[in-house]
Amino acid sequence: MSIFEEVESEVRSYCRSFPTVFDTAEGSHLYTKDGRDYLDFFDGAGALNYGHNNPYLMDKVVAYIQKKGITHALDMSTAAKEEFLTTFRNEILAPRGMDHKVMFCGSTGTNAVEAALKLARKVTGRDTIFAFSGAFHGMSMGSLSVTSGNDTRESLRGSQHAVVFMPFPYGFNASFDTIGYIRNVLNDDHSGIAKPAAIILETVQAEGGVIVADPQWLRDLRALCDEYGILLICDEIQVGCGRTGTFFSFERAGIIPDMITMSKSISGAGLPMSLLLMHPSLDKFTPGEHNGTFRGNQLAFVAGKAALDFMKETDLLAQVKKKEAIIREFMENEILPLDSRLSVRGIGMIWGIEFEKIDYKLSKVASMRCFENGLLIERAGRRDSVLKPMPALTIPEEDLRKGLAIVKEAVEYALKQA
Ligand SMILES: Cc1ncc(COP(=O)(O)O)c(C=O)c1O
Repeated sequence: MSIFEEVESEVRSYCRSFPTVFDTAEGSHLYTKDGRDYLDFFDGAGALNYGHNNPYLMDKVVAYIQKKGITHALDMSTAAKEEFLTTFRNEILAPRGMDHKVMFCGSTGTNAVEAALKLARKVTGRDTIFAFSGAFHGMSMGSLSVTSGNDTRESLRGSQHAVVFMPFPYGFNASFDTIGYIRNVLNDDHSGIAKPAAIILETVQAEGGVIVADPQWLRDLRALCDEYGILLICDEIQVGCGRTGTFFSFERAGIIPDMITMSKSISGAGLPMSLLLMHPSLDKFTPGEHNGTFRGNQLAFVAGKAALDFMKETDLLAQVKKKEAIIREFMENEILPLDSRLSVRGIGMIWGIEFEKIDYKLSKVASMRCFENGLLIERAGRRDSVLKPMPALTIPEEDLRKGLAIVKEAVEYALKQA
């Protein structure tokens, strides 16, 4: 029995999908203690958009440590935070015409979601939040209350919170007028559902199985929120930072949410950091009202600033478009012909291969086969039926094609077990 099984809690999760002991990593490669090389199509669940130990970022982190830069400062003002905020405002917010204020939250994504929900309720004086079927927003109680997975929601016990789920346009709701439905709920004084403070969504439901919302649907949702005075919260935690081909995933619809949650790749180097961006009119927390010890991860500020510089200097978003074309072509020409019951979908560098119409369990067979053949890849969606290739945005084309070839072999292998 390993020390992990002996000492670590049963709650451990990803190590069960990838049962080995990792030691070092570079770019899109992870190396185990015994020297095996794995290609990474998992990307720390979206926390490593710029690859492992990206030298552009890590050199700056190492230099900062060597100069004895402060590592912990609560939310005091520091030079590292100053540089991050300046770059974030100049390179991300200002060019998009956004004057959102930046709130540093407790170090993981779920805490930004908690802050967003808390703030929406505070500024509107309303309790209800609308979330969507298929949503994932984190595992702390507030975030879990807007997460749709029924199994994970069991731990909410009595604390269901005032959350109502609306249908996301997918599956049997794909041809249903979901915006019209929400409008009817809001107009009907006997709907039994109170007008919400906010609607929270992911423009691409990532854990939900890579479900990409249509830009027109996003615009209609924005318009509905404006019409009814409801705040729109966009959770960019997994699909922000260039993952979909634009810095923010909502840019493809030309909308600007009232609040935006960010985490995962915003620190660039896989370091914990989490942000809530809010329209200035919503900046209503009193000092310390959403306090937390670890809201000032200085190493993350250094790496996060470097990541924004790196993105600009390397024209990373153009690279994403190029690699998106490679993945799309692979999905359409190599995967879809394997079985007419497979479906594929995605945008930028987040994709899904859906096995549900054959047998949802095949996604597990395929992901395990990938692991055997040296590739890390996760599953997502209802019953985990979706294989989810999500490589780093920086992955070299050769590694991308090599990984995709492993995926194809694994899908073929899984189909043989059907
Ligand atoms: C869209 C989205 N929101 C929130 C979270 C929660 O972030 P964290 O796990 O850092 O708390 C995740 C994590 O996967 C996520 O994908």
